[in-house]
Amino acid sequence: MKDSLNKDRHDPMGNIDDWEDNLLQRYPDPAETKKEKDEFRNYVDSERLDTVREFYKMNHEYQTYDFVCYKETEFLKFNKKEMSIWEAVDFLNTLVDDSDPDIDLDQLQHLLQTSEAIRADGHPDWLVLTGFIHDLGKVLCLFGEPQWAVVGDTFPVGCAFSGKIVYPEFFVNNPDYTDERYNTKYGVYEPNCGLDNVKMSWGHDEYLYQIMKDYLPEPALYIIRYHSFYAQHRENEYAHLMNEKDIEMFEWVKKFNPYDLYSKAPIPPKVKDLMPYYKTLAEKYLPGKLNF
Ligand SMILES: [Fe+2]
Ligand SMILES: [Fe+2]
Repeated sequence: MKDSLNKDRHDPMGNIDDWEDNLLQRYPDPAETKKEKDEFRNYVDSERLDTVREFYKMNHEYQTYDFVCYKETEFLKFNKKEMSIWEAVDFLNTLVDDSDPDIDLDQLQHLLQTSEAIRADGHPDWLVLTGFIHDLGKVLCLFGEPQWAVVGDTFPVGCAFSGKIVYPEFFVNNPDYTDERYNTKYGVYEPNCGLDNVKMSWGHDEYLYQIMKDYLPEPALYIIRYHSFYAQHRENEYAHLMNEKDIEMFEWVKKFNPYDLYSKAPIPPKVKDLMPYYKTLAEKYLPGKLNF
């Protein structure tokens, strides 16, 4: 399986976060003025959107139930690298950014803008920490994983794909689309079985959740695990698979989402000044080293 995957590997986006431009078009910040919106949109040029489309074409074709099972056995051994979160942040920041350097912030800046916006609103410290670490699972890219298996909207596999997932037309090329085990409303699942029993398309969300699951409060874990599950937290397309706890915890996922999407500002945060606070915060919840 590995060989065929490597042969197919092709990373269409210049920057792994270009798909987020598309998210901002789909879900614009309701608090922004029209002028700000127009300014922001100016950089979402059509060429970049074409690469995002190409990215989703691959994502929707290759994220099958079997693929997710395969990635779980590969990555949930956590034998790739032992790192502190600081080493993971440095590692993530080595991702080369081919697109516009004036506009794109590095990974550390995105994490800090998210967490600082949460802190400024007076939320509990574990939510600030969640903002700071929520994308560390993107180190998958540095372990050689293709973009379509790291970022992008996530969605359940093993049951029918919702028509409200971005670019739903690309699912026709997914083998599960015509597989009778997987293409009904419930597929391999039971009604309201709980999302913990549902396999999500593989990417940075599930991977980081599995690394952090012993260390953070439950709402933090839901945020990390489902922050890219727009078909649920924005579109409510999978409530039939959720149990009561999921529904309650998704209120936190929804609360977090605007900080992730709308905290991007052109002014980079003052990393040096902020580090002492984050070091203390990380020590409160996390061990010195984590297995990736
Ligand atoms: Fe993310
Ligand atoms: Fe993010």
